[in-house]
Amino acid sequence: MRGTPIWLHSALLISSVRESLLPSLMTVGVLILSRVKVTDIPGYDRLVKLGTERKGAILFDVGCCFGTDIRKMAADGWPADSILGTDIEPKFWELGHRLFCSTADTFPAVFLPGDIFDLTHLDPVSAEDRTLLHRGPTPMPPLRSLTSLSPLRGYVAAIHAGAFFHLFSEER
Ligand SMILES: C[S@@+](CC[C@H](N)C(=O)[O-])C[C@H]1O[C@@H](n2cnc3c(N)ncnc32)[C@H](O)[C@@H]1O
Repeated sequence: MRGTPIWLHSALLISSVRESLLPSLMTVGVLILSRVKVTDIPGYDRLVKLGTERKGAILFDVGCCFGTDIRKMAADGWPADSILGTDIEPKFWELGHRLFCSTADTFPAVFLPGDIFDLTHLDPVSAEDRTLLHRGPTPMPPLRSLTSLSPLRGYVAAIHAGAFFHLFSEER
């Protein structure tokens, strides 16, 4: 590399190291994201009890990625068909099925892809509109029929958002 300007040399070096490290970094990423973390929550046992004891209790996981934590909660007793996950990247959910050797039939938790900040995905309720949070006489829509998260307002028993908030600025 004699004669190559130092800035170009550095740029090439960084780029080549990054290329060669990419598969390893991706493996590390998959390992981290496929590690169960929800059990680290101090109230985990109470959380699972809620799902096992309250009939039809809905669990909602924001930024669920491969669905690792959802799967753990289902394995511990929360009925899988009462669990809903959302993630901005739908490929993660597909990868989750491959990673855990499942299908939508063998693992019937519902996945609804979308950006949690997208108002067509979830229309938030302002403090003034709190009455909207109270369940009306209408029954909860079947999870499988949902095309957005908004109809779930007032029906969710527990929300899990693991390793999620640090991704965003405080304002967001
Ligand atoms: C660091 S991972 C955490 C995954 C998992 N909850 C865990 O604890 O291992 C963050 C996840 O949030 C998802 N995500 C990022 N921004 C999002 C958004 N605006 N709406 C929904 N999901 C989002 C990412 O695709 C990713 O799967």
